[in-house]
Amino acid sequence: MLHYNLIPKPNRYDEAAGSFTVSQGTQILCAQEFLDAGNYLTAYLKTKPQPDAGAVKVKKAAGLPPEGYRLRVSSDGIVIEASDASGAFYGAVTLRTILMQAKKQDGKATVEGLFIEDAPAYSYRGVHIDESRHFFGAETIKKTLDAMAMLKLNTLHWHLSDDQGFRVESKRYPLLTEISATRKYAGLKGCGLENRGGEYTCFYTQEEIRELVAYAAARHIAVIPEFDIPGHTTAILAAYPELSCTGGPFEVDCTTGIFEPILCAGNDAVYTFLDGLFEELCGLFPGKYFHLGGDEASKGHKVWEKCPKCRALMEANGLKDGAALQELFMSRTAKIVEKYGKTAVAWNDCIGDGVDESVVCQFWHLFDPRAVRKQMQKRKFILSPDGYCYFDISYANIPLKKTYRFHPKKVGFGKADVLGLECMHWSEWLETERALQFAMFPRIAALAEVAWTDPALRKFKDFYKRLSWYKTYWRKTGVY
Ligand code: ACM
Ligand code: ZN
Repeated sequence: MLHYNLIPKPNRYDEAAGSFTVSQGTQILCAQEFLDAGNYLTAYLKTKPQPDAGAVKVKKAAGLPPEGYRLRVSSDGIVIEASDASGAFYGAVTLRTILMQAKKQDGKATVEGLFIEDAPAYSYRGVHIDESRHFFGAETIKKTLDAMAMLKLNTLHWHLSDDQGFRVESKRYPLLTEISATRKYAGLKGCGLENRGGEYTCFYTQEEIRELVAYAAARHIAVIPEFDIPGHTTAILAAYPELSCTGGPFEVDCTTGIFEPILCAGNDAVYTFLDGLFEELCGLFPGKYFHLGGDEASKGHKVWEKCPKCRALMEANGLKDGAALQELFMSRTAKIVEKYGKTAVAWNDCIGDGVDESVVCQFWHLFDPRAVRKQMQKRKFILSPDGYCYFDISYANIPLKKTYRFHPKKVGFGKADVLGLECMHWSEWLETERALQFAMFPRIAALAEVAWTDPALRKFKDFYKRLSWYKTYWRKTGVY
C-alpha cells in the first residue's frame, strides 16, 4: 500500500528512506521558466520563506519526455525535475496533492521519502463542456479548470455555439450577441419535458473569455473553442438569415434534436462571414486547435440538395450529394482557420476523403466502420466514443467502471494516430452546475487516469481505493 493516493496513478512510484517536513517557512526555489509550478505550490502553502526551513526545488533537467517529471522526497529536501514547463507543473500538482494528504502537526506537513517518475500516455487529455444548451458561467468554468489541473487534464473543449445559443460577444457581428445569445425559454423542450423558465440571455464578453483562457493557461490547460458549422447553426441564422439556403426567418431554438437550418455552402457571403468571425475568435483563443463541429448536418444536406446555389457548387465540383458537399465545406473552412494559425478539428460524421488531411477527427460515434478505418490511415484522432465518454449519459449506461476500462482498442483504434481522449458534457439536460458536476464527478477521474497511466498499471479496484480521498476532498470543496 503506497502512502499517498494519486490520480492519475504515476507510472513509477517507489517508496524511499527518510522524510521531509514542509512548513510555511520552506523555500520554493523555482527555475524562472517553471514559475507556474512554483505559484501552484506557494498558493497552497502560503509560504513565508525562512533560510533554515529547507527547500522545495523545481529544476530544469534534460531528457524527460514532454509533460513528464521526476519528484524526489528525501531527508535533504524535495526536488522536482522536468524538461518543460508542463512537466514541472505536473510535478507540483503531484507534490501539492501529497502535501494535502501528509501527516500534519503544528502547521507542518511531513512527507515520507519517495521517488516518482511520470509522464502521460496521451498528449491530449480533454474535457468538453456545452454552454450553448445551458450556460454555467465563469465561476463554474474556473472550478472545473481547478479540478482538471489536479487530475492533469490539459484541454478544455468549449462548445460555444449551437442551435440554442451563441455564447461569445462578437464586436464584428453584433447581432450574434443581440439576437443569437437569447432564447425564449431557459428549459428546453424534449424527452417529455415542456419549455420552462423565462427568456434566457447568456454570453461571455471578450474580456471574460480572455480572463478564463488565462486562468486555464496558468494551469497548463489549452482551450479549444467549438463554433459548430454548417449545421447546429439556428442561433447564428436567427441573426443572419441571409446566410441560409432558404432565407429564414429563424428563431433561436428552445427544443432539442437535429434541425434543418444550415449555412448555405454555395454562397460566397457565408465564407466571407466565417472568415471575419473566425479571425475575431481566433484572436481570443491562442491555442493550436479550433473546432469546427460539422456533426449531424444530414437534415441540412437535404436543404442543400434543393438550393440552387449549393447545387451549382456541387455540379461545378462533381459532387454527388450533400455529404460530399460538406466535405468541401469543411476543407474550405479549415483553410480559413489555418490562415489564422489554427489546426481545425471536426466530428467524425463529416470526415471523408474530401476533407483535407490536416483536419483532426474527433471520433464520437461509429456510423460506418469501413469509412473510419480508412480515415485512420490519413489523419490524427481525438477519441470521445459515446459508449464510454459521454458523461451526460446516465451512470446506468456509462458507469464509472466502464469509463475506467476504456481503451482505444475497444472502439477499433488500436493502431491509429490517437492524440488523446476527451469526456463530453452535452447540456440539453444538464441545466445547473449541480447537474454538470453530478455527471462529471467522479467519471472525470477515470478518464484522467485512462489518458495518463500505462494500461498495464491500471486496476479498477486500486483506482477505486485511491478515489476515496478525492471524493472526500471534492465534497469538502463543494463539488456535487
Ligand atoms: C455529437 O454528439 N453530436 C458530436
Ligand atoms: Zn445553399
